[in-house]
Amino acid sequence: MAQNIEAGRPQRNGLPRHIAMIMDGNGRWARKRGLPRTAGHAAGAETFRRIATYCKDIGIEYLTVYAFSTENWSRSKEEVGAIMGLLVKYLREAVESMEKDGIRLRVFGDVQGLSEEQRRLITETDEISRRVTGMQVNVCINYGGRDEIVRAAGRWAAENPGKTPTEEEFSRYLYSAGVPDPDLIIRSGGEKRLSNFLLWQAAYAELYFTDTLWPDMTGRDVENAIEFYRGRERRYGGVK
Ligand code: FPP
Repeated sequence: MAQNIEAGRPQRNGLPRHIAMIMDGNGRWARKRGLPRTAGHAAGAETFRRIATYCKDIGIEYLTVYAFSTENWSRSKEEVGAIMGLLVKYLREAVESMEKDGIRLRVFGDVQGLSEEQRRLITETDEISRRVTGMQVNVCINYGGRDEIVRAAGRWAAENPGKTPTEEEFSRYLYSAGVPDPDLIIRSGGEKRLSNFLLWQAAYAELYFTDTLWPDMTGRDVENAIEFYRGRERRYGGVK
């Protein structure tokens, strides 16, 4: 906690170890161009690849992205199908390229709600991740922050009847077990809220909001967010 204090002087933060992103604005990006929303998601998936490569190149250790929430099922069948199709495509590519690219992939979310093919690909990427070193990318699919906490509580209660966990013990029951909390959460698309994303893990994260629509995001936007993060003084509830 004292990492930012040296000789009583607040220090600037270093590079965030873990960046999380809410990829918002695909639909508006498409509408502005007279395209269907699904075209916005296809462009968004390309942006995700570009941003993930950028983060890896600058030395980020963990990147977590919100790809599909437990609430996104209420969108049209066509839109849900398009997003799921993009996720299958990405998982297939990941199976082929993770080892070469030095990327470990994990999926956070309720995988029971996903297709058989997605579940099979997630098992494969889990296996590859165990033997690969490099940046860890966590893709949140069928993910909700409250759902994650309720599931963790249920599992804790089943395995430890009558006991109250410490925060540390409880966090081992979350999808993010073993992953440090995000230092910085970036939301594109102009809204300023967390939308049920990483509710537990976001406790001390710095929050950065930009009006840039997700498909337009570049390394420069991430650089701006990191510059903002570097200027923040993190007190974790203490005083300096
Ligand atoms: C939010 O924008 C975006 C989503 C719900 C889907 C995100 C999915 C992708 C970027 C594609 C697949 C991802 C990977 C990791 C390959 P919105 O549709 O709510 O945009 P709007 O607010 O402008 O309508």
